[in-house]
Amino acid sequence: MIVAKDLNGVIGKQGKVPWHLRADMLHFKSTTEGKIVIMGRKTYDSLPAKFKPLPNRWNVILTRNQNFPAPKCTILTSPEEVLQLSQLQEVFVIGGEKIYKLFMPFASRLIVTEVNVEVIDGDAFFPPMDQTWSGRIIKGVETDEKNPFSFWIVEYTRTRV
Ligand SMILES: NC(=O)c1ccc[n+]([C@@H]2O[C@H](COP(=O)([O-])OP(=O)(O)OC[C@H]3O[C@@H](n4cnc5c(N)ncnc54)[C@H](OP(=O)(O)O)[C@@H]3O)[C@@H](O)[C@H]2O)c1
Repeated sequence: MIVAKDLNGVIGKQGKVPWHLRADMLHFKSTTEGKIVIMGRKTYDSLPAKFKPLPNRWNVILTRNQNFPAPKCTILTSPEEVLQLSQLQEVFVIGGEKIYKLFMPFASRLIVTEVNVEVIDGDAFFPPMDQTWSGRIIKGVETDEKNPFSFWIVEYTRTRV
């Protein structure tokens, strides 16, 4: 799974990601390009039109509406179908809250951008991570005009199952 969250686990506010960090967007792009990305229908809805589908990735949307209109995307209607796909090829779960929560028990790797901010009135959260996860920092970015908050990126793997 790949996510960006604030110091309290906030990932969204009013249907949007509550920050714009250019370096993190580039990290997300380079990490997921060429891969299968799994997203909830609400996260797909939140993407700007020019990023629907996310370019150079196989976009998979989880929704209970099998007729959900999303050109050039694959629609799956149950978590089991996503898990079957993940047996065949590596998949990246890219959110949002409901989808992270669904797949947390099955995830083997978390790539987490920890944003150095406390968002007021956030309404979407990353699920709690238990003690089976251990992390190492893979990148740190300081504040600049394109990155209003400092952040660091941590890769977590499971130490035991
Ligand atoms: N910071 C980050 O890294 C990051 C990343 C992604 C998203 N976000 C934020 O997260 C928020 C959205 O999260 P969210 O929890 O509201 O929505 P979401 O997880 O993106 O999508 C929820 C939708 O997924 C579908 N779904 C959920 N469980 C399902 C199941 N068991 N079977 C089939 N379909 C299922 C349903 O679609 P239908 O209603 O169509 O059936 C449900 O409404 C936004 O604020 C977004 O900006 C943040």
